[in-house]
Formats: sequence, structure tokens, C-alpha cells
Amino acid sequence: MLFRKKKREEKPIFLENVGDSLRHIAFIMDGNGRWAKARSLPREMGHKKGASVFERITLHCFSRGIHAVTVYAFSTENWSRPQKEVDAIMALLSDYLDYAEQKFKDYDARLVILGDKSRLSPSLREKAERIEEMSKDRSHILNIALNYGARDEIVTACNSLIAEGKTSVTRDDISSHLYTALSGDPDLVVRTGGDFRISNFLLWQSAYAEFYFTKTLWPDLTEGEVDAAIAEFLGRHRRYGGL
Ligand code: FPP
Repeated sequence: MLFRKKKREEKPIFLENVGDSLRHIAFIMDGNGRWAKARSLPREMGHKKGASVFERITLHCFSRGIHAVTVYAFSTENWSRPQKEVDAIMALLSDYLDYAEQKFKDYDARLVILGDKSRLSPSLREKAERIEEMSKDRSHILNIALNYGARDEIVTACNSLIAEGKTSVTRDDISSHLYTALSGDPDLVVRTGGDFRISNFLLWQSAYAEFYFTKTLWPDLTEGEVDAAIAEFLGRHRRYGGL
């Protein structure tokens, strides 16, 4: 694990296609509220800025040859935030999906929503499902975790297996019944905002992930720092419990 105390001096890092070593990157996009507060703006403005950064960073990762990008956009616990903030995040997601239909095509990406869509508004749910269906034959994957909680995900997977009549299960059974069945486990999880926690995100899938923690607030994250995280990842020796 790595935590940068000082803001990294950004030097250009020359990376091209890293997809063979880094197939799946996941982001915990934290710090939008603090970014807004520091500018005396309402929290919603932090999310707005965060949504535009999300788009830039996602496209940057695809351009590096990364096969799957996962972002934690809204957790099962985030419903407890003030209604105004919840509505603002949902509106940003809805706007993004309208706008991203074409972008998904340009990047040959398919959309996958990780999470329980039943609590979303009917229009957001319908829109997300339409784009998921429309993009399903594309090669890259953009997972947006929305009304997502990793413990619920594991419980849901187990209940599906029980409903299928299983009386004992394997690891592969569980993995293939998680929302991430298509993209598999993340190789690298990046958390912005300075906290060292996993916050109920990809608990099963990140068993052997590498972690990169940075104090940078999500709206301040740059492509350069993502490249620094990737370079750090490429320099690590993944032992998977071996020597
Ligand atoms: C955490 O920061 C961020 C969220 C709960 C929402 C993330 C949402 C977006 C980036 C916008 C919509 C996303 C897409 C995919 C279009 P925080 O609010 O907890 O920040 P804080 O810790 O500084 O308060």
C-alpha cells in the first residue's frame, strides 16, 4: 500500500499500452464534498466537477489499453445523505448516461451497472438498462457501482446460488454470480481523498488487488497522477500469497 504524504511532483511518465499487466482498474472517487467546501460551493458542485473528472479519467484508462474501469459512484449507504445531494448525484448520472451513449461507442465500451437497480428511479433504471443492452457486444467495460454495497452483493450471489439448487459452492460459483462477473477482479484499486478504507467496495474481488491511496481529492485527480499510480503498480511484485 502506498500513501503519498506530499503532493507528488508531476513529471510526465511514458506509458503506452499497459493492458497486459493491468486489465482492470477501480476507483473510489472520494473528496468531492471537501473540494466544494474549500471553494465555499455547495457539495453538489463538487459532484458536478467529480463527474467531469470521472469522464476524463475513464477515457484516459481506456486509452492506456486497460480493459475494465470500475467507479464507485453511489453506495447503498449514500441514500442517507440529504435528499438534495442524492438528487444531484442521480441527475448527474442520468445526464452522463444521455451524453455517454456516443462516447461508449467511440471507446468500444460497454456499460455495466454494479448494484441493485430496483431502488433507482424508473427512468434512470430504464436508461441504464437500455444502454447496458445496446452496448453489450463491445470489448471494454465501464462498471458504474450504483446503489452498490459489497456485502449485499455477496449475499445476493449466495441467494442466487441457493435458488439454483446449489447445496455447496466454489469460489468460482461466487465470482460468477457477483455483479462483476464480466470484468473479473480489479488489479489496482485507487482511492482518492486521503482515507485508508475500502468502504464496502469490491470486498471479494479485491482479495489480491494492489491499492494506491492518495490525498488528492477526486476533482483534482489528473491523468498524470493516474499514470503515476499505474507506474507504481507496474513496479510492484504481485505474489498472491506466494514468495
Ligand atoms: C464521494 O465524495 C463521492 C460520492 C459519494 C459521489 C461520486 C459521484 C460522482 C463523482 C458524480 C457522478 C458520477 C458519475 C459516474 C457520472 P464525498 O461526497 O464523500 O466527498 P467528501 O468525503 O469530501 O465529503
